Amino acid sequence: MMAVRLLVLLLFVLTSCRGSISIPPHDEVARMARYIVHKSDWCSMATISTQESIKGLPFSNVFSVSDGPLEKGTGEPYLYLTPLEISVHDIQANPEVSLAMTLAATDYCRKQKLDPQSPLCCRVILSGEVLVVNSTEIGFAKEALFSRHPGMADWPHEHGWYFAKLNITNIWVLDYFGGIKTVTPQEYYKIKA
Ligand SMILES: *[C@@H]1O[C@H](CO)[C@@H](O)[C@H](O)[C@H]1NC(C)=O
Ligand SMILES: *[C@@H]1O[C@H](CO)[C@@H](O)[C@H](O)[C@H]1NC(C)=O
Repeated sequence: MMAVRLLVLLLFVLTSCRGSISIPPHDEVARMARYIVHKSDWCSMATISTQESIKGLPFSNVFSVSDGPLEKGTGEPYLYLTPLEISVHDIQANPEVSLAMTLAATDYCRKQKLDPQSPLCCRVILSGEVLVVNSTEIGFAKEALFSRHPGMADWPHEHGWYFAKLNITNIWVLDYFGGIKTVTPQEYYKIKA
């Protein structure tokens, strides 16, 4: 009888743990921002368009991103770009962009049955300037991106891929009810991964 009860308890514990993903508390906003950025393998990136038909208007697109190898996040969003890409044309004219990342891109919101627009389906919006990564940082940028996007190693060499990152100037976090919150880059980078 005791053994049966223990087995039932064990099964209960196992099934309730499976699929439960713990995220930072919603009031630890800087930690939440770092968490979302680290978990994100891709983001939306809005640029100011240089296309004739929408010159000066926003243009949103999807990019692979990494802030470091898994469990070694730095908070700095690294990108792998080619000058042939349509949004990169915009960046060359004006490097000011906005990135959005959401836990809807992870298992979290789906498992919690949260709509992507629910404030509980946490997201972060960053703004800043896209910078070309310098020679001392290329090794890390490459490790950050290629470890999480192995396919990048085979992207056509002749397209002139280069490593870039966002120099974050503003951070917004929506992770609970009551409106969006802001975090300064100083608070954000103080968080230990
Ligand atoms: C390259 O960039 C990193 C990070 O921004 C900086 O710490 C480093 O001093 C830079 N190195 C050179 C050679 O400019
Ligand atoms: C990054 O942005 C900050 C704040 O705008 C600025 O002071 C700094 O010079 C920028 N860094 C680079 C390398 O452009």
